[in-house]
Amino acid sequence: MCGIVAYLGKSDAPSVLLNGLRRLEYRGYDSAGLAVMDGGRMVVAKAPGKVAALNDRARADWPDERFNRAAAGIAHTRWATHGPPTEANAHPHLDNSGDIALVHNGIIENYRALRSRLEKLGHVFHSDTDTEVLAHLIGECHHGDLFRAVCDALHQVEGTYGIAVMSARDPGKIITARCGSPIVIGIGDGETIVASDAAAIIGHTRQVIYLNDRDIAEITAETVSIRDLDNVPVDREIAQLAFDASAAEKGGFEHFMLKEIHEQPEALRNAIRGRLDFHLGTAVLSGMGTSPRDLAEISRVVLLGCGTSLHAGLVGEYAFEDLADVHSEVQQAAEFRYRNPILGPHDMVVAISQSGETADTLAAVRESNQKGAFVMGLCNVVGSTIARETGRGVYLHAGPEISVASTKAFTCQVSVLLMMALKLGRGRRLSREEGIRLAREIESIPDLVAATVRQSDHIAEIAAHYAGHEHAFFIGRGPLYPVALEGALKLKEISYIHAEGYHAAELKHGPIALLEKGTPVIALANAVPGQDKTLGNIEECRARGARILGIVTAGDSRVTGLMDDFIEVPPCHPLVASVPSAVALQLLAYHIARHRGCEIDQPRNLAKSVTVE
Ligand code: G6P
Repeated sequence: MCGIVAYLGKSDAPSVLLNGLRRLEYRGYDSAGLAVMDGGRMVVAKAPGKVAALNDRARADWPDERFNRAAAGIAHTRWATHGPPTEANAHPHLDNSGDIALVHNGIIENYRALRSRLEKLGHVFHSDTDTEVLAHLIGECHHGDLFRAVCDALHQVEGTYGIAVMSARDPGKIITARCGSPIVIGIGDGETIVASDAAAIIGHTRQVIYLNDRDIAEITAETVSIRDLDNVPVDREIAQLAFDASAAEKGGFEHFMLKEIHEQPEALRNAIRGRLDFHLGTAVLSGMGTSPRDLAEISRVVLLGCGTSLHAGLVGEYAFEDLADVHSEVQQAAEFRYRNPILGPHDMVVAISQSGETADTLAAVRESNQKGAFVMGLCNVVGSTIARETGRGVYLHAGPEISVASTKAFTCQVSVLLMMALKLGRGRRLSREEGIRLAREIESIPDLVAATVRQSDHIAEIAAHYAGHEHAFFIGRGPLYPVALEGALKLKEISYIHAEGYHAAELKHGPIALLEKGTPVIALANAVPGQDKTLGNIEECRARGARILGIVTAGDSRVTGLMDDFIEVPPCHPLVASVPSAVALQLLAYHIARHRGCEIDQPRNLAKSVTVE
């Protein structure tokens, strides 16, 4: 979603800002802009489309000296919410005087009321955005001190924000603040770089400060001073950024998505390493902060998430019920947060979020904390807001995920949920022998996934048969039902084929009416309990002319002759089978999208981290 970069140094601000924006491209956006201070003047360049278009625009409009000389600037990639992705709506936005420039992530909810008040005072607006209102409001509040002006303006807004503000009247400083939208400040040697995502900071420094909600910071090239919105100084510790710069490179792969699919065996090893105890037959997840007694008292597990993380939760639901004998349910975070959920101290809430910043999941965490539940995070990004606000939980250690379509985060989320369920199960009804057997199954996941990834070329050949279709159905049952949902999501995200995931039994309650000769049905037909029924559902589809692609267990003779194409995954435990099967569908979606010539890493309209409701 939207991205912020702001920079104060000695020179070269436009180049630094453009490089930072490129690092944020993976988040998804549809226009970009930057403003720099040049000889006491605010100079702005904006362009719809990609950062490359902004670069061309700035280089065409600005003389070389401006690129080399400017020492301060702010920049933004915008994912349209209020108004289409035009040049006028791109950030930065200026106040009425044109002296103050602002970039903003989040949504100013009371912008209409503020705008009409400001219009009455003579302010003239040039965009459809909520953000421009905040720029004008800061201008209205500016009586000689930019920090004060931003503080006063923020007191009047409702909604969420991460912002960076610069003024021609206050050279050499930038004000940044957050409420609900992340801001991280990188402290370099004679330079300070602010961003909404640490990815834009790597290459400059590893020393960072994460702002908390209601923090507002005044930065120069040498200093950072942070206060809260009530103007009280606050101390925020300096953290070390653990970010491997090579993670932000494609490393010889054509796309980040393909690279991340191939990284899965290693990512899964990192997620599992040191977390299985083969002697006691349990999982060692110290971040959960639970004693066996705490575990015994948990009467319900509530799994929260959005998108792919929600699908991981759906697999987890089966695991908690099966292994831990505990009532378990999955809730879409956006729905959960507004439905006045019934929660108490015996409910364990697991917030699943790769980024740890998804607005709805974060709000659901806050609601769960409020209601006194036992809340933990399952995040990939270390130090993310959900990880910090839950205070306990488990990190995935999957490494940075750049492709908008989530792959390695999903398989690591499922694997960690299996370990959580194993741990909970051992505190309840699972015997040591069963625990050891399951631990061995979980340990084998990286190898199962490696075997599936090795079939990439075979899957590419199959994909050619499906790339020309505009509709597809994915079916499965049991823990493979969420995999059907995830397979359909992957396909529609990156290939723009209309794909629906259904429980295999549900197809005949309506969707089967859409089957025609050749309609693709991708069936999770692994040799697991319930397979008989799924094979029956496949027959129903075949009878109506559908083209069947099966995900099957290697060596399973029961599926012979039932399918037009198949992808084999190694034999394994039914819960574990969800992981390699999902990988097969990731590769299928990837190769179909590639056959269709789609922009795989940055699909249209999508964002990596959804920081608005
Ligand atoms: C966006 C991304 C998805 C992701 C979802 C939840 O929609 O495009 O890939 O699954 O957000 O993100 P989270 O970071 O909370 O897992």
